[in-house]
Amino acid sequence: MAETAVYPGSFDPVTNGHLDIIERSAKVFNKVVVAVLHNRNKEPLFSVDERLTMLRESVENIPNVEIDSFNGLLIDYVRQKQAKTIIRGLRAVSDFEYELQAASINRKLDPEIETFFMMTNNQYSYLSSSIVKEVAKYEADVKELVPTPVTAYLYEKYGPFSGE
Ligand code: PNS
Repeated sequence: MAETAVYPGSFDPVTNGHLDIIERSAKVFNKVVVAVLHNRNKEPLFSVDERLTMLRESVENIPNVEIDSFNGLLIDYVRQKQAKTIIRGLRAVSDFEYELQAASINRKLDPEIETFFMMTNNQYSYLSSSIVKEVAKYEADVKELVPTPVTAYLYEKYGPFSGE
C-alpha cells in the first residue's frame, strides 16, 4: 500500500459523496488525512470546528483516517504532513476544468507531489455541499445525502425536515 495521502476540501458540510471517496481511498493508502481549508473567500455555513466535528463523527469507524485543518497553500500543508499524494474526487465533466488547473499548479509548485483522481460513485454524481445546503434550507429531507451525524447539524441551522 502507498503511504499517506491528503484529501483536501471545504467540507461545508461533508456529504455522502465525500464519505465515499474517504472510504475508498482509505483502502488504497496507509493513512488518509482529510484536511479542511480555513481561509475560504466565500462565507461558509459551518465554522471550521463544526466541520471538523462533523467529519470526525462521520469517519469514526475508519481507523486510518485523520481529520485536520490547514491554512494557506495546499502544497505546503502536504509537505508538512510528509505526504506525496493529494486525492480529489471527480463527479462530472464540469469538475474537470478546475481540477486540471489546480493539479497543474500544484505540480508546478512541487513536482514530487501527485494528484490522484477518484471517480465519484455514480450514485453521488449530482451531490455537492451547496446542493445539500439548498435542500436543507427549504427543510427537505437530507438523510440520504449526508452522513447520519451531519443531519442533526443541518437541522440545527435550518430547522428540522418539515415532512416528519
Ligand atoms: O472542496 P473544495 O472547495 O473544492 O476544495 C478546494 C481546495 C481546498 C482543495 C482548494 O481551494 C485549495 O487547495 N486551496 C488552498 C490554496 C491553494 O493551495 N491553492 C492552489 C491550488 S488550487
